[in-house]
Amino acid sequence: MPEAAPAGRPLLEVRSLVAGYLPGVPILNDCSLSLREGEIAGIVGPNGAGKSTVLKAVFGLVETWRGEVVFRGEAITGAKPHALVAAGIGYVPQTDNVFPRLSVRENLEMGLYLNPRAWRERFEAVAALFPLLAERPGQRAGALSGGERQMLAMGRALMMNPSVLLLDEPSAGLSPRYQDLVFEQVAAVNRAGVAVMMVEQNARRCLQIAHRGYVLDQGRTAYSGKGSDLLDDERVVELYLGTLSAGARD
Ligand SMILES: Nc1ncnc2c1ncn2[C@@H]1O[C@H](COP(=O)(O)OP(=O)(O)O)[C@@H](O)[C@H]1O
Ligand SMILES: [Mg+2]
Repeated sequence: MPEAAPAGRPLLEVRSLVAGYLPGVPILNDCSLSLREGEIAGIVGPNGAGKSTVLKAVFGLVETWRGEVVFRGEAITGAKPHALVAAGIGYVPQTDNVFPRLSVRENLEMGLYLNPRAWRERFEAVAALFPLLAERPGQRAGALSGGERQMLAMGRALMMNPSVLLLDEPSAGLSPRYQDLVFEQVAAVNRAGVAVMMVEQNARRCLQIAHRGYVLDQGRTAYSGKGSDLLDDERVVELYLGTLSAGARD
C-alpha cells in the first residue's frame, strides 16, 4: 500500500474538460481530475472510457472545447507538447513510445534534446532508477523486450527531470513479472519526487499504488477517492473491477 497521500498542493488539474477528435463528438464530457505534488493519481475505467484521451488532452494532443487544464495554477489548455515538456510535464504513450532504430543511449539523448548539457547528471539519475539502461546503452531499442522498452520509454520521459509524468497503460502487454516490476518502478519514480498521473487497465494493481484514484466512465469521473477506498467500495468493485475483485488484496 502507498504511504498516506502527501498533502501537497494541486499541481495539475483537469477542470470540467470537454474534448474529442471529431467535431460534435465529445469523448471527454465534463471531466475533472487533480494531481497533487508528490502523488500518484490512478485513472481506471472500462475500455473506451476516455482514459487515454484525457492524458492526450493534458499533453496538447487532442482538441479541447470547454474547461481547462491548469498546471501550477496557470492555464495550459491547448499548449503544445514541446512547451509542456519544457514546463516539466513528461508523457509516455501506451505504444510507439521509443525510437526502435535508435540505441538506448540515443533514445535517452532524444529525451533531453531541449537541454543536452544536463546529460551526465540526468543520465545518472535515470540510470539509478533503471540500471538496465546504463548496462546496455548501445542496444537498439527495437531489440529490447516489451518490459525493457517500457523502462526506456519512462527513462526517456524522465531525462528532462519533469515534475509530472503522464503514463498511459505502462503495464499493458507485459508478462506478470514485468507488470510487477513496472508498478514498483512507478512507485520508485514517485518516491524520487515525480508526481505521476497513470492510466491503467490493471485497475486493482494501479489503485494499490495510487494515493488518489479516479474511475472514468463515458468521459467523466464516475468515482474518485483514495485508491484504497475505491478498492473497498462495493459499487466500484462491482461495476468496474469485476472479476478482478476476486484477486488477492494484499
Ligand atoms: N484518434 C481518434 N479518432 C477518433 N476517435 C478516437 C480516437 N482515439 C480514440 N477515439 C475514441 O475515443 C473514445 C475513447 O478512447 P480512449 O481515450 O482511447 O479510451 P480508453 O483509453 O479509456 O480505452 C473511444 O470511443 C475511441 O473510439
Ligand atoms: Mg487507452
